[in-house]
Amino acid sequence: MSRSLVALALLSACSGTPELLPLPAVEGLQALPDLDPADDVVEVELVAAPTRVSWLDGTTTDVWAYNGVVPGPVLTARVGDTVRVRFTNDLTEPTTIHWHGLRIPDVMDGVPAIQDPIQPGETFTYEFVVPDAGTFWYHPHVRGHEQIERGLHGMLVVHEAEPLQDVPQRGFVLDDALLDDSGAWYTFDVDNSHPLQVHGRNGNVLLVNGQVDPVEGTVSPGVAERWRLVNTANARNLWVQVEGADWRVVGVDGGLVAEPYTAERVLLPPGRRFDLEVIPKGSVDAVQLLVALPNQTGGWDTWPMFEAGLDWENPGTGAAPAWSLPEPFTPEPTTQDVELEFDVEGGGANIHWTINGATWEEHQAIHATGHTPTRIVVRELSGAFHPFHLHGQFFRVIERNGEPADEPGWQDTVLLNGDDEVVLYSELDNPGRWMTHCHILEHAERGMMTELVVE
Ligand code: C2O
Ligand code: CU
Repeated sequence: MSRSLVALALLSACSGTPELLPLPAVEGLQALPDLDPADDVVEVELVAAPTRVSWLDGTTTDVWAYNGVVPGPVLTARVGDTVRVRFTNDLTEPTTIHWHGLRIPDVMDGVPAIQDPIQPGETFTYEFVVPDAGTFWYHPHVRGHEQIERGLHGMLVVHEAEPLQDVPQRGFVLDDALLDDSGAWYTFDVDNSHPLQVHGRNGNVLLVNGQVDPVEGTVSPGVAERWRLVNTANARNLWVQVEGADWRVVGVDGGLVAEPYTAERVLLPPGRRFDLEVIPKGSVDAVQLLVALPNQTGGWDTWPMFEAGLDWENPGTGAAPAWSLPEPFTPEPTTQDVELEFDVEGGGANIHWTINGATWEEHQAIHATGHTPTRIVVRELSGAFHPFHLHGQFFRVIERNGEPADEPGWQDTVLLNGDDEVVLYSELDNPGRWMTHCHILEHAERGMMTELVVE
């Protein structure tokens, strides 16, 4: 240790400043190096540019990538850090970056209603403080149905102030791509395609962390892990399940939940995230993360996304980690209402999706008062399903179709199944102009977006 480092160590010992332990790695994803030496600043560089990958044997696919990789590298910070992203657009079309789920100032939210899109060859620096720990993601907010589909999306992990050092973390970015046999994208145009307008673009190739084959690894029996999952698909609902382990959902969009829960499989709609606690069993040969999709015969087909053998060198006790779970939540009485009705107009290849009777082009912003317990009623009238996303705020699902909802945790995206009515609770703590839209990207492109102005 050099002399100056010794002095520094003594200084921090005297002043009682707790030493910051390094942030845990998120295995499975390329990490973005932090270019700023300060402990509480994360500065990274991102470049969006075309490149090529090989997904189908013997073929290449033209993709758009952040820093040359699909998905983009994982951006990691600690809650309260300042994050600075020096972004360069080397695409041939304008773009922005939106930080899905972060409750940051609207000027940094990366939406074209507020920020002029960054032109080809231009740079822009995003800077904000990350207020909440959780699993988030980043993606463009210009022609998202093309730009996100073609590879522009990455995970964003905000660690707790003191992340549990003994819990290995893995990241899984789940996606589907629609490719022909030569590896090329089908060049459907959403403006001319009835199926695309109705269902959004469903892929025929499932991808995990930018590969077709499952991610491989090793886990230790009885050693709990934290798996962070995001569904970046344009339109496809994915169910996920874990084999060979005891597992629970411990976190959702807005961070850890008061009451972790488990099920045979859990539904991860487009845009949403789950944090799973996974404790590998000692009695199995392998642990797997599976994506499950309903099949024609009423059963399920499954695809492995992660396959791990067991490493018996360092078995654990099988105990759950000491998560700092939040207190159970009780809503305040609400004093204002916001209503949203999701519907459809037109037919053939001229379908438009509407919120409160208007497409994005026709929309009038909805106004609400900030820092106010608010009931947001979202009604679906067309029979379609929509992952509804609100920027810049968290909400809870309070009721679904008149019944109290059992959907733990703070969310920024919620699935409305055909004809659902959900009641959400939000305190609208983050004033600003916020986009709210369907996360089926073709629905958003065909009108299903509006703005909520929180005064
Ligand atoms: Cu991930 Cu406006 O969305
Ligand atoms: Cu939709």
